[in-house]
Amino acid sequence: MTVRKTAGISAVMLAVSVVLAFAHGGATGIVKERMEAMEEISASMKQIGQMLRGQKPFDASEIVGAAGIIAGHSGDNLTRQFPSESLMPPTEASPLIWEKWEQFSGTANDMETAAMSVADAVQGGADRDQIATAFGRLAQTCKTCHETFRVKK
Ligand code: HEC
Repeated sequence: MTVRKTAGISAVMLAVSVVLAFAHGGATGIVKERMEAMEEISASMKQIGQMLRGQKPFDASEIVGAAGIIAGHSGDNLTRQFPSESLMPPTEASPLIWEKWEQFSGTANDMETAAMSVADAVQGGADRDQIATAFGRLAQTCKTCHETFRVKK
């Protein structure tokens, strides 16, 4: 029983790592690092989104935790993963990052502020609509940055 359960879990974990390996398409070094950070950000967004849409039970501390993970990957922690001209394949980073560095780092800071606002809203006892508004602003920072600085391949 226990053995079968463990085998089942490993099979799932293997499937997950295979999917990630393909998603990263053989990235190494700093490119791999920042792709993994973005994947963690994305997983945290999904987690919060599911709770706000009622697809998962609402859990305030989980939302605060997920927002904290996103904030932790923002600001300087995000920008230091983009050293000058780090465009090694299979990166989707645009060379515009280094041409418009202030705009890029500004958006990285906006993401931190927006993630903290989600956590603050939850901790301040805001209702679901108010949390959803803060969450929407956070999602907008992803879109703003990707539109200019990520080249979809
Ligand atoms: C300041 C800019 C910036 C912000 C803000 C930002 N991203 Fe990204 N994101 C990028 C760049 C640049 C890439 C491409 C990195 C690369 O391929 O080297 C990327 C890549 C990704 C990827 C693909 C990772 C992979 O495995 O290839 C995902 C998923 C992602 N971002 C999710 C998000 C989400 C969700 C948010 C918002 C909560 C967000 N990002 C906010 C700049 C940003």
